[in-house]
Amino acid sequence: LERTFIAIKPDGVQRGLISEIVSRFERKGFKLVAIKLVVPSKEFAQKHYHDLKERPFFSGLCDFLSSGPVLAMVWEGEGVIKYGRKMIGATDPAKSEPGTIRGDLAVVVGRNIIHGSDGPETAKDEIALWFTPKELVSYTSNEEKWVYGVN
Ligand code: GTP
Ligand code: MG
Repeated sequence: LERTFIAIKPDGVQRGLISEIVSRFERKGFKLVAIKLVVPSKEFAQKHYHDLKERPFFSGLCDFLSSGPVLAMVWEGEGVIKYGRKMIGATDPAKSEPGTIRGDLAVVVGRNIIHGSDGPETAKDEIALWFTPKELVSYTSNEEKWVYGVN
């Protein structure tokens, strides 16, 4: 099954939104395969956002990501990369639909509380950047047969 990298940024952690956000992914039927709380270095943040290095907000963005605890996670499920992005909502919370995480819980683009991989390649790269293979946990969830309807 497909996997994606999801991170609650320092603003989401500080605002006490961990349980709210984790709960949305759980209730959807996706499966948590890795989770840890980390304070990334600025160099690490620059690696994570390397594709944005030409943007004017890059330095501020990397300062912010490395300013406090980030909840790094890997979620697994059919279509989780695309659907996870849908659950997160548009980059700018002013444009995110109500019902999405950013639409419901954030106000400005520089403090949009959550990150999600934007495609299969970035998902693979980001999972490898944030987690060692050993930290990805393989287990059978009793819910799977109910979520997918297979035995
Ligand atoms: P991520 O899931 O965090 O990668 O967001 P995204 O994929 O919806 O957007 P993108 O990758 O283009 O930008 C990464 C992050 O940079 C965003 O989540 C914002 O936090 C920040 N960002 C993007 N555009 C702007 C901007 O115009 N101004 C500021 N201050 N921050 C921005
Ligand atoms: Mg992005």
